[in-house]
Amino acid sequence: MTDHYAVIGNPVAHSLSPLVHTAFAQQTGQNISYIKLLSPLTDFAVTVRKFQTDGGCGVNVTVPFKEEAFRIADRHTERAMLAQAANTLVFTDTGILADNTDGAGLIIDLRQNLYFPLAHRRILLLGAGGAARGVMPSLLAELPSRLVIANRTRARAHTLQERFAIYGNVSACDYADLQNQQFDCVINATSTGLSGEYITLPDTLFAPGSLAYDMAYGKDPTPFLRFAQGHGAAQCADGLGMLVEQAAEAFHLWRKLRPQTQTVIDQLRSNSSNRA
Ligand code: ATR
Repeated sequence: MTDHYAVIGNPVAHSLSPLVHTAFAQQTGQNISYIKLLSPLTDFAVTVRKFQTDGGCGVNVTVPFKEEAFRIADRHTERAMLAQAANTLVFTDTGILADNTDGAGLIIDLRQNLYFPLAHRRILLLGAGGAARGVMPSLLAELPSRLVIANRTRARAHTLQERFAIYGNVSACDYADLQNQQFDCVINATSTGLSGEYITLPDTLFAPGSLAYDMAYGKDPTPFLRFAQGHGAAQCADGLGMLVEQAAEAFHLWRKLRPQTQTVIDQLRSNSSNRA
């Protein structure tokens, strides 16, 4: 019996999730199929229900449906509750369970693949949209010395700051406020990694030994990573590792098995152009 899974998004053609999950399934001997499902923007819930009725076991959810995925679920993991967004749904006998594995994927990539633990470090998170919110709880759980959220629209950064202030030392600002500040880890969670736009950042942002991380991935470095390379970041990484690690977390939720990730990251390194 084949168990069926899908990634739902709009757009979704770019998604590498089918490649990742197929590689995990081969590696662990699991009999699953995994497809891309393009959902109409106004019909996400219908798309999920149909896939479930047709015998699906679960789905991954990508742009722009992560918040709606959270809302349509019957039960939520704690990390999905904190993010108020879901990237993984499990169809169970007692309804739909929503989880959010994005934050865990980012932290595992930073810690295990990039050897960059965040405890006691100064973190700058660029962006205050859904992608930023999804990883905030996991970043704060690592106990950084401070976490600054910088966003083009300052009010959105403040909203995030207010929401997560009880979990750590969080502050909010816009990009102009970053003058004369330095960080050990700068994470780009804006959509500029996809659109190719530049964010104007101070030249002196990167502390010695710092890591620049873009949650987007592609064949070429994003504008943010190009900026970081030229302005003192010691290490630069794109989001391919996060993509594979968040998928491994979802696979574990579905199949109760933990696949090896490094070989899959290496396999994908050659052909990618988007974000989880
Ligand atoms: P996502 O779910 O991918 O996070 P989103 O909620 O629309 O999508 O958020 C997009 C993020 O990218 C926001 O932080 C947005 O900044 P604003 O809140 O000011 O819109 C940021 N962003 C998009 N284009 C940008 C640009 N050209 N320069 C700087 N930030 C940009």
